[in-house]
Amino acid sequence: MIGIVLLLALVVAMIYDYIYPRYLYPYRARKLGAEPPTEHLSWPFGIPAGFGFLKEARQLRQMETSLEFSHGPTKTVVSQAFGSHIIVTRDPEVIKAMLSTQFADFGLANRYKVLYPLLGDGIFTSDGPHWKSSRTLLRPLFMRERVSNLKMMEHHVQSLFKVIDGWNGQPGNVQTQFRLLTRDTALHFLFGVDMDSLAGVEQYFEIRGGEKISGTELTDAIRVAAGWLGVRAKLMQLYWLASPPQMWKAVKICHAFVDKVIETAKTKDKLEDDAEYSFVADLCQYTSDSKLIRDQAFSIFVAGFGTTSSLMSHLCMHLAATKRWKKLREHVLHDIGTDPSAVTFETLKSCKYLQWCINESLRMHPNVPLNLRRARRDIVLPTGGGVDGKSPLFIPKGRDIVYHVLALHHDFDIWGKDADEYIPERWDNLKVPSWCYIPFNGGPRVCLGQQFALTEAAYVLCRLVQEYDDLIGPGYDAYKFRFSLTIAIEPGVTVKFVRS
Ligand code: HEM
Repeated sequence: MIGIVLLLALVVAMIYDYIYPRYLYPYRARKLGAEPPTEHLSWPFGIPAGFGFLKEARQLRQMETSLEFSHGPTKTVVSQAFGSHIIVTRDPEVIKAMLSTQFADFGLANRYKVLYPLLGDGIFTSDGPHWKSSRTLLRPLFMRERVSNLKMMEHHVQSLFKVIDGWNGQPGNVQTQFRLLTRDTALHFLFGVDMDSLAGVEQYFEIRGGEKISGTELTDAIRVAAGWLGVRAKLMQLYWLASPPQMWKAVKICHAFVDKVIETAKTKDKLEDDAEYSFVADLCQYTSDSKLIRDQAFSIFVAGFGTTSSLMSHLCMHLAATKRWKKLREHVLHDIGTDPSAVTFETLKSCKYLQWCINESLRMHPNVPLNLRRARRDIVLPTGGGVDGKSPLFIPKGRDIVYHVLALHHDFDIWGKDADEYIPERWDNLKVPSWCYIPFNGGPRVCLGQQFALTEAAYVLCRLVQEYDDLIGPGYDAYKFRFSLTIAIEPGVTVKFVRS
């Protein structure tokens, strides 16, 4: 009997799954004077397409399929995967509405539930009034001069040089080193601790309760916790399946470490000098809520370090693959010179070619390639519906919309037929139409760490270019790309830094 009921329920669900996107959704849209977007349906329940997406991810083919979408005739489509209907768009007008003009109509889907074990109620996971108050609290801290602490960065760059020199002119995987470097600078900037993991000397830190842990234990805990958050993000609605004891143990270590940093910072009346500066200590001047400080600090940590190391790795990959290192070096030596102390926030900005190289890397491979929002209510956007994408677009309440930043950045209509090539020179006097270049997002939730990330990437690249005459590495055929929260390069960026 139960079997028959289940079978009947399945048949009804399959019929509904067939009828809804073909008849009911278009009907509801037309009643509101709108159209659904072009449909890429996969019956039943998006199962064939869902397995297709998993296969693409396993075979590391997401870059190819993203480029196919960016060159296709329709900028907004609705697809199905494992029971969900998802709208995917590369239309700048739709993205502008989602992120700016109709900002309040869209939420963060289940980001809070996915990331709360480590990030709690920090800015990155929160929405509505709590997000607003987080933003108001944190924004002024990012405006500070101290955010671009070049002296601190130089200390870590020196450790990077030692690692590269240890390769003795042989190729090494610079992506791994950039991950360590940006984790070290983020820990230094946020928590005021100098892990110096590139130097390979074990450090010890006191955690809440007086216990001591090694730098390796701490970085392992960060890696394990962040890894499980990544798994939860991939599982989407099924995030709750990934909640193992190892994750909670790692989270506990991370929290105990930061709680001790906060406890110490609270004993100080005011920040004495630059050497003592940490974001957490700065935040303690404005609020005494330790849990809030911890959640904000981890949110910034997670938002910041993987993205910036991804940018640096892509920069080296592009410069080696297109053999542009020497040209960049000529520009840096001409505009800034060979003296490390001449590298300042202002001189970095004034070296146009350096800025173009970074802009172009963020265009070619925006380090957050895809992003997602969920409709809070039934919404009609002015454009994006119908086969040509020109009619108003109906988005039902609860529907997820992926905005495909990478596809937007490769759209031939915007960037021309050479959109898939890395050409920094295109930025000479380029006027980018609004909402066509959004590596750091846009609107009220634009990245708070943009300045920090751009300064760090420019500083590290500039110092490497001053130090090494050439960078030799393979062409693009050697690489595949793994899409998760950021883009990772597989099997790494194995390049040779050459001194004459
Ligand atoms: C190349 C490096 C970076 C890229 C490409 C990048 C990109 C982004 C993007 C796309 C968002 C929007 C996320 C969303 O709303 O869905 C974002 C938000 C954010 N980023 Fe970055 N980011 C980078 C580096 C950093 C750094 C270094 C920090 C901090 C030091 C940082 C802090 C933040 C914060 C706090 C938010 C949340 C803002 C909010 O929700 O109001 N980011 N970033």
